[in-house]
Amino acid sequence: MLRIYSACLLILLHLTHVWCMTDEKREQLRDETASLFKHGYEGYMKYAYPADELRPLTCGPLYRDTDPNNFGINDIHANVSMTLLDTLSSLPLVHPEAYPKAIQLVAEKISFDQDVKVQLFEMTIRAMGSLLSTYQTLDELPNDPIEQYRKLGINVNNDSSAWSWAATKKNDIVDLKQYENRMLELAHDLGKRLLPAFDTVTGIPYARVNLRTGLLKGESIETCTAGAGSLILEFSLLSRLTGDERFEELANKAYLALWNRRSNQNLLGNTVGTHGHWLAPGMSGVGAGMDSFFEYGIKAGVMLDDDTYSDIFYDSYAAIQTYVRTGDGLIYRPIQTRLLQPASPSIIDSLSAFLPAMQVIAGDVESAIKSHLVFWNLWRKYNAMPESFVWQERRIEWAGYPGRPEFIESTYYLYQATKDPFYLRVGEKILNDLKTRTRTKCGFATIKNVMTGELEDRMESFMLSESLKYLYLLFADVPFPNSNTVFTTEGHSLKMPKTLLKSPSAHRRLTRKGENPTCPVYQSPQVGSTDSTSGIVLGIEGRDDYDYARGLVYGWDTSGPEIKDGKRLWYDGGICKIPSAPKFAFEIVLSPLNATDPTSVPPEDPSPGPSKVNQDLLTGNYHITDIEGLRLGVRWRFDGKGYDVANIGPHRIRQGQNVVISDSALKDHLAVPSSPPIDSYSPPELLLRFISYLNTSAPLSLPSRDAGQVLLHAIGATATFGLDFIPVTASDFESGSTSWRIGDKPVRLIIPPKENGLAYQGCTVKSLEYLGINHDSTDPFVIMVSRGGCTFLDKLIIAKEIGAIGVLAIGYEPLKEGEPVPPERKGESVIEDQGLIRPSAEYDNSHPEFQKLGLNNIGMIYTEWLIGEILRKLVENENKVLAIEVLNIDSNQQEVQSHKLPDITSSFPNKNRKKFTHQVEKQGLLMVGQWPIMNLKVTNKALAFQNGKPPESG
Ligand SMILES: *[C@@H]1O[C@H](CO)[C@@H](O)[C@H](O)[C@H]1NC(C)=O
Ligand SMILES: *[C@@H]1O[C@H](CO)[C@@H](O)[C@H](O)[C@H]1NC(C)=O
Ligand SMILES: *[C@@H]1O[C@H](CO)[C@@H](O)[C@H](O)[C@H]1NC(C)=O
Ligand SMILES: *[C@@H]1O[C@H](CO)[C@@H](O)[C@H](O)[C@H]1NC(C)=O
Repeated sequence: MLRIYSACLLILLHLTHVWCMTDEKREQLRDETASLFKHGYEGYMKYAYPADELRPLTCGPLYRDTDPNNFGINDIHANVSMTLLDTLSSLPLVHPEAYPKAIQLVAEKISFDQDVKVQLFEMTIRAMGSLLSTYQTLDELPNDPIEQYRKLGINVNNDSSAWSWAATKKNDIVDLKQYENRMLELAHDLGKRLLPAFDTVTGIPYARVNLRTGLLKGESIETCTAGAGSLILEFSLLSRLTGDERFEELANKAYLALWNRRSNQNLLGNTVGTHGHWLAPGMSGVGAGMDSFFEYGIKAGVMLDDDTYSDIFYDSYAAIQTYVRTGDGLIYRPIQTRLLQPASPSIIDSLSAFLPAMQVIAGDVESAIKSHLVFWNLWRKYNAMPESFVWQERRIEWAGYPGRPEFIESTYYLYQATKDPFYLRVGEKILNDLKTRTRTKCGFATIKNVMTGELEDRMESFMLSESLKYLYLLFADVPFPNSNTVFTTEGHSLKMPKTLLKSPSAHRRLTRKGENPTCPVYQSPQVGSTDSTSGIVLGIEGRDDYDYARGLVYGWDTSGPEIKDGKRLWYDGGICKIPSAPKFAFEIVLSPLNATDPTSVPPEDPSPGPSKVNQDLLTGNYHITDIEGLRLGVRWRFDGKGYDVANIGPHRIRQGQNVVISDSALKDHLAVPSSPPIDSYSPPELLLRFISYLNTSAPLSLPSRDAGQVLLHAIGATATFGLDFIPVTASDFESGSTSWRIGDKPVRLIIPPKENGLAYQGCTVKSLEYLGINHDSTDPFVIMVSRGGCTFLDKLIIAKEIGAIGVLAIGYEPLKEGEPVPPERKGESVIEDQGLIRPSAEYDNSHPEFQKLGLNNIGMIYTEWLIGEILRKLVENENKVLAIEVLNIDSNQQEVQSHKLPDITSSFPNKNRKKFTHQVEKQGLLMVGQWPIMNLKVTNKALAFQNGKPPESG
């Protein structure tokens, strides 16, 4: 271990001179990227426009190939100036001066009425995505043309006679907004021309369609998962912007059709027939043929705010992490969907370099860093990204590099997620390689062979629209979009306006209760410190797996000692330990059966019925009282703290929701306390003093106890949550504060009238009129509620809503001898009223929800039924007005007995709070190996769910 440590330090020292990148340097790289972009764009416009692509070596246009089967070219060449069209959405950011002219050309010259067979997927992501994005950009521009130019950052020269090559003359300004609707029209027209592809039984579309004549006779039924499943972003936005619902419906149907054909392990194949059968080779991975299916799951979840997609994403992602990822956590290679065997030899392709970007969006930054390291080593070894690489043999299978953006995109996302300057240095290397290896007189060439540097006469439209755009975003330090905005898989920014979002169904809202999605904050690894606040920040290059990733691609130096599998551990003077990633997702079956008894078996049907799993409608937590045969799907947490239960049978557990198990079969697990005992400043018990006022029209604020008469004293138990009952200070007392504090002035006590003979339980909000409170009154009051109907926490929340500063909770009426248990108390932990109990809640005050709802300012005290009855009678029969005071038991005992009123200011000379520590109910965590299941609590608190109804614990 020590040696590993010093090796890390050596690496660290070695790196210090490249540690940071100054802002000047970063901005210089940004400007250099922009000028490369301009070079490529102007070259295309000069030498190739209106053709779809530029020939960068011969500096001429590239047209459709006469061979109809040359899909590599013809899928994209629709005679629509594709490079211009695809690049349009990047111009405002990288080359705004060219934007007005480009908009006019697209609006006025492009027609999709072309007799060409093209690919549904490519036309959608390159053309439709750019048009929709442009429509939204124009929509956000101001109405005044000069302001439009200014907003776009175009330098406008006011003096039309002056000559300046860098500025647009004022007379040349055109109103860009006039083209806004044309962009949507074009997108809609293209969409309609693509519709014939969906004429299949399954909803899985054909891969190709003729833009003028529709589906061709004998069209191949073969398509790929990514092609059929990556339409939802563009199609949904098109539908919602135009009101033509067909597109969203079809894209959704296609997406679900693919997902519904997943294997038991949630794996998909990469090639599928429109009839719905997976076709050979039946491999499942993250690269070509599959990539953007996953990407569109998470992005549709973000853009549409629709769990349907994000749920599918996280399920499919768990399958990828479990089966496609290798044990070291760095390599993602295809496996056979059925046999779950990796192909041999197996490859990683350059398309799968999109993965880290997607992992960042999904919140799994740690995995993103790892997977990116492999691609980084591929890039630095070959000074470009080879199309495919046989990783076990460390040799290139396909040496081309057509200027693909995926690795650059991932570098950009990771820089934004970690702010580690390592990613800027990666970008700098990419920029230099693109400049020195691919730049030609008029554009950027495809590298035919990354080892020899041989070039090919083609510039794909994504070279500008994505590769240079993402490089620009990286150096410009632009945060990646979020909340209903995404970059499509072609780098076009699409935004679902809030007004076009569909509100989630009632069922969805319900199951999302308590959900609290958060992304873990990335922290740089450090040495020399056990906490994360001091020590030397290592950065990406200081990670244990940094050099391991290098070894995976470059090979292991032969000078080190061999280990069992033939790999050598020594190289570069350091030591590399082989990392291992914890298993990502698996299922555990809970059973109270004796585990050491080999004859005990889990039950046949382990699916939990509604009687076993109940969702608490308030907290969103799932409660289980009988674990027998429950199957829990657990998944690795992105913050690296352990596992979370992701589902119990069909019930999905969302981030922030907990699973609470109170089966006595798990009582042994209670030994591990899950959290330290809660500290509270409330004494567990208080003395309650009730005062009655004869004058019913006395003001509500009841400033003095002298106007009334002490009626009775009783003991109350404070709740373990909500307001801390602390002694009032002399100055607080004088200032007339309105909090409910020990020794403070009397507070009005409201006793709501009975309804149908039943006392108010505080589970529904009541109007102030109903409670007999003047609307305009700002006087504080405490409300009395009876036990039952909902949880104590519910009662506190509802009292807060009504406007009370406190709740006096009253216990159950004691049962008479032989009296049957009333139905509403069945299953209660305490059927008999057992005197005082301390109301408790699932949460304690540190829960963010408490702060949000302001529950720290409202207190709850519990007392016995009899006290409540006496008070009620006084109000109902004698029309008295009541007030309540809370007092410390010890300091007031004497006065109570002598019925002498205490002198408040001298009774509480000690302003220091006394701290009470109380153990809430014991809780435990279940461990899986060395890792806890973080959102699963085993508790001894008797939770009584009956027939799927919420608990009666309040
Ligand atoms: C390309 O499109 C233009 C109009 O958009 C048309 O005039 C021209 O004939 C088309 N070229 C081919 C080869 O179809
Ligand atoms: C250009 O002219 C407009 C009015 O036409 C004026 O408001 C603006 O300040 C002028 N800008 C410059 C840079 O002179
Ligand atoms: C569990 O089964 C084993 C073997 O049958 C037995 O020795 C042990 O006492 C059992 N434990 C319990 C708690 O029943
Ligand atoms: C009752 O209180 C009201 C308001 O403070 C006062 O005007 C009235 O005189 C009081 N009545 C008696 C009988 O004290």
